[in-house]
Order: sequence, then C-alpha cells, then structure tokens
Amino acid sequence: MERMHQYKPHDRDTQAKQMRAPLFEGLLEHAAHHPLAFHIPGHKSGRGMDDAFREMIGERALALDLINIAPLDDLHAPHGMIREAERLAAEAFGADHAFFSVQGTSTAIMAMILATTGPGEKIIVPRNVHKSVLSAIVFAGALPIFIYPEMDRTFGISHGISYTSLERALMLHPDARAVLLINPTYFGVSCHLHTYVELSHAYGVPVLVDEAHGAHLYFHPDLPSSAMEAGADVAAVSMHKLGGSMTQSSLLLQQGKRVSAQRLQAFMSMLQTTSTSYLLLASLDTARRQMATRGKELLSRTIALSQRLKNAIRTIPGLSVLDDSVLAYDSAYALDPTKITVQVAGLGISGYEAEQYLREHARIEVELSDLYNVLFLITPADDETSIDRLIDSLTDLSAAFQKNGAYAPTDILLPDMPALAMSPRDAFYADVERIPLSGSAGRVMAEFIMVYPPGIPILMPGEIITQDNIDYIEANVAQGLPVQGPEDATLATIKVIKERLPLR
Ligand SMILES: Cc1ncc(COP(=O)(O)O)c(C=O)c1O
Repeated sequence: MERMHQYKPHDRDTQAKQMRAPLFEGLLEHAAHHPLAFHIPGHKSGRGMDDAFREMIGERALALDLINIAPLDDLHAPHGMIREAERLAAEAFGADHAFFSVQGTSTAIMAMILATTGPGEKIIVPRNVHKSVLSAIVFAGALPIFIYPEMDRTFGISHGISYTSLERALMLHPDARAVLLINPTYFGVSCHLHTYVELSHAYGVPVLVDEAHGAHLYFHPDLPSSAMEAGADVAAVSMHKLGGSMTQSSLLLQQGKRVSAQRLQAFMSMLQTTSTSYLLLASLDTARRQMATRGKELLSRTIALSQRLKNAIRTIPGLSVLDDSVLAYDSAYALDPTKITVQVAGLGISGYEAEQYLREHARIEVELSDLYNVLFLITPADDETSIDRLIDSLTDLSAAFQKNGAYAPTDILLPDMPALAMSPRDAFYADVERIPLSGSAGRVMAEFIMVYPPGIPILMPGEIITQDNIDYIEANVAQGLPVQGPEDATLATIKVIKERLPLR
C-alpha cells in the first residue's frame, strides 16, 4: 500500500521514553502508600461497595478508582502526571498536542467541531457521519454542508466522499470553517487523506478527522495513513476501540497552527465531567505505551491473522468479503485489512440473522450487522484459535442456510440521502408535532433516527423525509435491527416540524 507520508518508527531515545507510563506509575505509587481517604469516590477503594461487585471487579482495580486530588493532577488543568502522559501520547501519535477524553470519541468530536465552527458558520461534512458530529452541529448552531458519500451497491454500505465532491464543496463554500473527514469508515475504507488535506488547506480550511476506527493506523506501515501523518489539523481517536484501552477512553490530537490547542483544551474541559475516572486515564497511558513500544509487532500478527481469515471466507459458499476490489471507488484509497466485512446475502439471510445464528449456535458476538453484512474486528487480542473458531462457525452458517438461495442483487436497499430544509438547530427548537412514521414523507424531521451500531443517522433534524427513508427504516425494524433515536421507541410515530414545506 503506497503511503504518501512515510510511517516513522521511533528512534531509540523516543522508544525508551515511551516505555514509561507516568500516570499509571503515579497512581500505583499513590495507592501503595494507602493514604487514609476522606474524599470521593465514597466507596474508598471498594470498602463501601456492594460485595458482589467488589469481588468481581477486584480490590486492586478499585484502589485505583481515584479522583483529582492534588497529588494525582487534574485533567482540566494538567500540570503533573496527566500532562506528562498527554505529552508522551502526542509524541507517540506524531501530534503536537494530545488531550485525554474519559467520555469517548463522541466528546472529542464535539470539542473539535465546537472549537472551530460557531453559530451560522459552515462546516463541510460527509452525510454518513456518526451522530456525535451531527449533535455537535446542533449544539454549535452550525450550518452543515453535506457531501453525499459514494454508495456501494454490492455491499449496501456507504464509503467516503470523492475528491471531486470535496473540491466542489470547497469551491462553492470557501468560507467553510472546517472540513470533517472520516478515516477510516466503520468498514475500514480510507480515502487518500493526504490529498484531501492539501486541497482543504489550499482553501485555508482546517481538517478535522473522525478517527474513531483508526487508533491502530499510527503503529503499522501496512495500514492506511493516519490523520496526523496525512497532515490533518485535529483528530478524534478511539483508543478504546482499536488501541487497547478501556471503553470510553479516547484521544483528541492536534498539530500545526490552524486550530488553537488552547481552544481545543478549553472545549474538552467544558464538555467533560469534573469527576474524571483515573482507571480510564491510566488505561489510556498504558495503551499508548503498549502501542508505541510493541504496536508494530502486535499488529503484524493481527494483519496476518486477518489475511488468513479473509482467504478462508472466500472459499465458504454463499459468503463474500469486502476486499481490495473496493479500491475501484474514487473515495477508497486504502482498506484496513483488520476489518472483516462479510456479506451473507448469498445465503438468503440478513446480516442480523447471521449475527443471531452465530450468537445462538457458536457463542460468537460480532461488531455489527446490517441488512446484508456482518462485521468482525480482528485485533491484537486474537490468535489462531479465535480465527479457527470463527472460520468453523462461518462454515457451519453457510451449510445451515445454503439451501435458501441468494437474494437477487436488486434487493440491495440503501438509505436515500435526504435534503436539508433548515438548519438542524432551528429544526431541533422549532414547533413540532407527532405523526405516524408511515405517513411522514415530505415533512421535515425534528429528531434523529439511526441504526446503532453504526450510529449514522438515516434522518436528522431539518431533513425532508422521503418514502425511501421510511421504507429503509421499516426494513431495518422488520429485520429486528436496533433502530433508535426518536422519543417514541416503538417508531410508530416521529416528531416533525409543524410548519409544512415550503418553509418561510
Ligand atoms: C465513526 C464513528 N465516530 C465516532 C464514534 C463515537 O465514538 P465513541 O463511542 O468513542 O464516543 C463512533 C462510535 O461508534 C463511530 O463509529
């Protein structure tokens, strides 16, 4: 895979520094002194906790569940061990600054959008973004300039946006305050990020990257380029997804002068809890250490296992796997080999039915399923045994359903990309009424509605509902997929703007 920016392994000095985990070490040292605590958390190393929970979690972990007392620094104004840990993270990821998030990548995404785009200002975004991007746009009162992603009619998924569509958007909206890109998509598809960044910078527009699925890209030359490597200004990175840290711990990375690091830090502080979890912080510190010092070795093995799995799936009747043929799409420049998207339509079942089969017959849990596919993530936690078990179970799945015959390719449904009638924030605060979903075509949506995962809204506030949207939602509901968002969880009714089109 060609990389425009060369992946740089750390030199020996850096490698030695990266062996340290100052936050984790500071925490261990504090706990080892057994101070008599008269501060929160009130469970005080688990002593005041429910017995069953304490026994399960373990006293050693609970002794580290501490709070920002003076010796342990403060995420909101870091000057000690948290600052040192963030500096090491910045170095490991090739950024100028790194900020820790204990509220996942959603908060890091909101901080980078709010820090760059204010009320009434434009931000260029692909339409297939995670709901946190759209929530931030509502909070900011920003005007999204949506670019429609390339749709994959074979797998029934959306990829990235093409270079020419970004160019057109920048030409029409050179006053945009930011461009947001996804690297890679949930299914592992990356655009030629470096050229997109150069293009946006030529217009003086900073680039924000949703890198929720890209924490590992920083640590292996055979993976798609990372946001920092490609020259992006800010990236929100889910360490907890593919970087080996605990759920909810993420990073916000910054480089260069286009976006102020101080402003990003201010927004991270405004959005994050004052009761920061030190277990999450320490897990970020140590996950960074593991990736910086052993990432290449761990990921080489992960990539080899993923290739073996893909080769095996190709031989299983009725299954097909997303592979490098996807690179024929304009927006697809590289595919993360560790994301295994398997289409099961050849067995005449939905992805959700395959997910259920694997759960019930093989005790296997998948990352996500949709109408046609199942997604498996292969990480450094996998080994030959887990891959063999997955191959055997997929072989059984194929044998169980092969007699069904395949869906015709024309059966592939894709969500219609709706048009925006008004700003998402105006729609969110407008007068609304509740009407049956089935009769809502032509009305303006006042809520989010999405399948989670992946959490990409099918409709968001301000968009004009089409019959295609309704059919797509109903098809997902019929398959038992987790459609969520509206206040009416049954989805029988949704909230729409009272005023009818054309709006004044
Ligand atoms: C593309 C994308 N962006 C952002 C997020 C949000 O990340 P987090 O769950 O860490 O808040 C997700 C989560 O699934 C995602 O898939």
